[in-house]
Amino acid sequence: MGVLARDLSCLVLVVVCLILSVSELCNCGITSSYLRNDDLSLDMPLDSDVFRVPPGYNAPQQVHITQGDHVGKGVIVSWVTPDEPGSSTVLYWAENSQLKGRADGFVLTYKYFNYTSGYIHHCTINNLEFDTKYYYEVGIGNSARQFWFRTPPKVGPDVPYTFGLIGDLGQTHDSNRTLTHYELNPTKGQTVLFVGDLSYADDYPFHDNNRWDTWGRFTERNAAYQPWIWTAGNHEIDFAPNLGEPIPFKPYTNRYHVPYKASDSTSPFWYSIKRASTYIIVMSSYSAYGKYTPQYKWLENELPKVNRTETPWLIVLMHSPLYNSYVHHYMEGETMRVIYEEWFVEYKVDVVFAGHVHAYERSERVSNIAYNIVNGLCTPISDQSAPVYITIGDGGNLEGLVTEMTEPQPSYSAYREASFGHGILDIKNRTHAYFGWNRNQDGYAVEADSIWLLNRYWSPSERSSVAAQ
Ligand SMILES: *[C@@H]1O[C@H](CO)[C@@H](O)[C@H](O)[C@H]1NC(C)=O
Ligand SMILES: *[C@@H]1O[C@H](CO)[C@@H](O)[C@H](O)[C@H]1NC(C)=O
Ligand SMILES: *[C@@H]1O[C@H](CO)[C@@H](O)[C@H](O)[C@H]1NC(C)=O
Ligand SMILES: *[C@@H]1O[C@H](CO)[C@@H](O)[C@H](O)[C@H]1NC(C)=O
Ligand SMILES: [Fe+2]
Repeated sequence: MGVLARDLSCLVLVVVCLILSVSELCNCGITSSYLRNDDLSLDMPLDSDVFRVPPGYNAPQQVHITQGDHVGKGVIVSWVTPDEPGSSTVLYWAENSQLKGRADGFVLTYKYFNYTSGYIHHCTINNLEFDTKYYYEVGIGNSARQFWFRTPPKVGPDVPYTFGLIGDLGQTHDSNRTLTHYELNPTKGQTVLFVGDLSYADDYPFHDNNRWDTWGRFTERNAAYQPWIWTAGNHEIDFAPNLGEPIPFKPYTNRYHVPYKASDSTSPFWYSIKRASTYIIVMSSYSAYGKYTPQYKWLENELPKVNRTETPWLIVLMHSPLYNSYVHHYMEGETMRVIYEEWFVEYKVDVVFAGHVHAYERSERVSNIAYNIVNGLCTPISDQSAPVYITIGDGGNLEGLVTEMTEPQPSYSAYREASFGHGILDIKNRTHAYFGWNRNQDGYAVEADSIWLLNRYWSPSERSSVAAQ
């Protein structure tokens, strides 16, 4: 090749690169210009209505439920009695039945620095019927309290189901607005996928665990009636050797139980459930996750078990996002991304939900898995096998919103806005799901951002690529 020809081909390459990089820069991502009141919201005072203690001696409080088995026929009911252990039994009956079942649980207490918890009860009800409304009762005598829940439909590929998405909730007036908006959203969420950072009690001197109790009372109005699927965040760690508390996650693990053994997990921080048409994998950003660790080995065994013919929708929850273009927590999820992103693409995860960043962001379908240290291929590229990454850490805690964003908006970021709110994932059938994000300042039915999600395994374009393999 002559010198001129080589220069020419080099020039062509430069021009191609320029066009590519220009198209990189002029991405179509939206940074919302919505203007909000950025006053820092304080936690609701201790005498607020939402923290009221139910009347009656030793009355159960902080009642909350979560899925109790792998398929949705089990429910874990948890509650606290303040004065004495009382009873750990749950009575339950189907809506149209007089026949009462009973399940016996157990009670525990824990100490944290100079705080002693109330009597924390956990009781698993098993072998319920699918798609059935059940009433249940906890407590005894005049202090007994009744609630209800509805079990999900039998696991199957075209079962519609709606999930609420809430993260980093805390207990401020904004938190109360987020919960109220979720409750009044006309697309009724049937189960909450909670992406970590619950009470923010650790922001108080001595990690004042009374703020775990107030949070439990605040969220009872929803969490006693529909399951909240728990993910551990950094505010659950409560690691304080200076207070004589060197064991991480002590308050969280005593208060919030999850059905991790049902998915052969050895730890409550990572586990899976099936619910309706979804397979939900919960991961822990704050447990060891490198190669050979228990979490890694569990996920390595877990992903091949997902049968997309049975559960088309594969959803991953974690606290720290893998794709985040805010300045706050920028790249904190990077080590986890390097380890797990390849699997998320290989197994065609539909959506990864995360919290941590106190704002909202939705990504394009991108992956960044070609880099091998020497090849320089370290820019995310469009990838239709990749999940959509959604950051929903905008529940409204006392730390406030994060508003500072990296500029220009990277091309992987499709929409970002620093407002408090919640999301709803509305699964229609095996191919279609609709995700909407609602900001607290708008009416209950207003979606500030929304997207149709086409299932990565079943949508027509994906089917043809699967068939071609
Ligand atoms: C715990 O210790 C802190 C700091 O000394 C104190 O303010 C608080 O009243 C104590 N609480 C209890 C229950 O003793
Ligand atoms: C919290 O929201 C509920 C429902 O909207 C309302 O009834 C209650 O008064 C609010 N409480 C506080 C302290 O804002
Ligand atoms: C996947 O699920 C479908 C529907 O339940 C079932 O017919 C099929 O046997 C399952 N495949 C495997 C490999 O278990
Ligand atoms: C799945 O749901 C979408 C959106 O509601 C609808 O357009 C489509 O026809 C449905 N597919 C089937 C097979 O019912
Ligand atoms: Fe966090």
